[in-house]
Order: sequence, then structure tokens, then C-alpha cells
Amino acid sequence: MPDADGNKDASNYGLGIPVKKKSFFMKGLEYADWGIKERMARIFDKRSGNAVMLAFDHGYIMGPTSGLERIDLNVVPLLKYADCIMCTRGVLRSCIPPDCGKPVALRFSAGGTILGSLNYECVMDIEEAVRLDVSAMAVMVAIGSENEALTIRNLTKTADMGNRYGIPTFGVTAVGKNLARDARYLGLATRVCAENGATFVKTYYCEGFEKVVAGCPVPIVIAGGKKLPERDALELAYKAINDGANGVDMGRNIFQAEDPAAMIQAVRAVVHKGYSPDRAFELYNDIKSK
Ligand code: 5RP
Repeated sequence: MPDADGNKDASNYGLGIPVKKKSFFMKGLEYADWGIKERMARIFDKRSGNAVMLAFDHGYIMGPTSGLERIDLNVVPLLKYADCIMCTRGVLRSCIPPDCGKPVALRFSAGGTILGSLNYECVMDIEEAVRLDVSAMAVMVAIGSENEALTIRNLTKTADMGNRYGIPTFGVTAVGKNLARDARYLGLATRVCAENGATFVKTYYCEGFEKVVAGCPVPIVIAGGKKLPERDALELAYKAINDGANGVDMGRNIFQAEDPAAMIQAVRAVVHKGYSPDRAFELYNDIKSK
């Protein structure tokens, strides 16, 4: 029998066997390839649909920034609380135990630093992503900058390679003094990432964030940005989740917190359990005091 949409034998392929409707738990990935879905399911929790990604790739443009001087002491103890880690191949190979069991969003684009030509980047070879068994390749996209076209080309090239090997492409909307952070700009930047092949996108929270989410056909996670007081950072995460983000990819607001281990656990409570900012801050203080 045709189904309600007129698809022939959609209910049982004509064999009398009920067929479950195929669907994937993440926005925009219904028609993605198996490898892409499998890797996205490593990063995102199937129950909440969200992820707490721990970002500590800052050194590639900033050097040994505060809280990241010693990855072995500052970051490795936090790994167990993260759903996914985001770092460069240099730090991955030199500091991260290969048996930590965490999916990796590899920083896949590289180029200038904060002292020089920020956002003037190229991308790595796909063999490196395969060799490191990464779950996503993160590429900076600097919409509105003088390097806009170059960074979009990096994303497109990465998506081409990623689709060949079933590895998701993670579009990262760029930071920069001259780049706006309002819903109009971030809506454009995230949409351009999705249109050019990003499997999911990282951006910043802003006023009217729900419009940014609505206009982007793939999942969005938010960066934390500059260090805020702990309760404010928890509120930022709460608002982002409430407005439709699928998680956070947070760095400084975790590793520069007074108690980073307590902070990442409080962020988890917001992202996976919907804790309010006050309740999560209470949890933060509880863990911190022990
Ligand atoms: C920079 C990045 C960082 O990983 C990102 O900014 C997340 O860190 P933070 O929460 O400290 O902003 O992608 O390009």
C-alpha cells in the first residue's frame, strides 16, 4: 500500500515486514552518510541531543594563553568530563593520551596568529584526519574579512575531503576585532558555513540567537568567548541551549574558571539536564567546596 505521501510499499517494502521510519537524532543530518552520522553520534549525546565540547586549540593563534600553559596539568584532568575535545594535532600528539576515549574535533585550518595575519589560513591533508581517527575537522570561516573567500574555500575543500571519508566538517565562525557579533552577522556566517558543506557550526551567542538557529539547517554549538564570571557563563550556556543550540564548545570559561573541573560539570548540568543558571552555579560552588 502506498503511504500517506504516496510512496509505494514504504511501510513494509512489500514483504509484510514493518519498517521503522528512518531518522537521525540531529537536525539536518537525515540524509548524511553513515560515517558522518556515526561520528556525530560520538560527539552528541543521543538523550539530550547536545554536547559539551572542550576547546583548547587557542594556542595555535595565541600561544600559551592563561589556563593553557600546561595542557598536561590544566586540561588532561578535565577530559573525563567532556563529550568531545577540540585541539590541534600538535597538542593531540604531544599531550593527549590516545586511550582517553574522547572523540576529537581536530583544528584543521591553520595560518596567521593574533600578531600577524589572523584568519589567513590553509587546511591540512585528509590523511592526517584519518590517521588520527578524528570525529570532526574544524575550519575557521571569516565572513566579512579580507580573507573571506580563502576561508570559505578552506571549508569547501574540507567538506569535499570529509564527504569522501565520512568525516564531519565543523565550520567555525571567526573571531576578530572588526567582525560583528549580532544576529544578522552570525545568521549570515552560520548559514554560509552550512550552505558550503559544514556538518555543524560553531558560533557566538547573541541577542536574537533563536533567529540564527532557525536560519541554519545544521546543528549549532556556541563558543564561550572571553572569560566571564562563572554564573554569567552558565547563564550564557543556558540561554543558548534554550534558544536552540545543540551544545557548547567552550574553552576560556572552563579552563580559566577558578575551579575548571567544577565548572565543566556545572556546564554539563545545563547542557544535558537543563539546569537553570542559579541551580548550576549552586552545583559549581558545591563541587568547588569539596
Ligand atoms: C577559536 C576557537 C576556540 O576554540 C573558541 O573560541 C572556543 O573557545 P572559547 O570558549 O574560549 O571562546 O575556535 O577560533
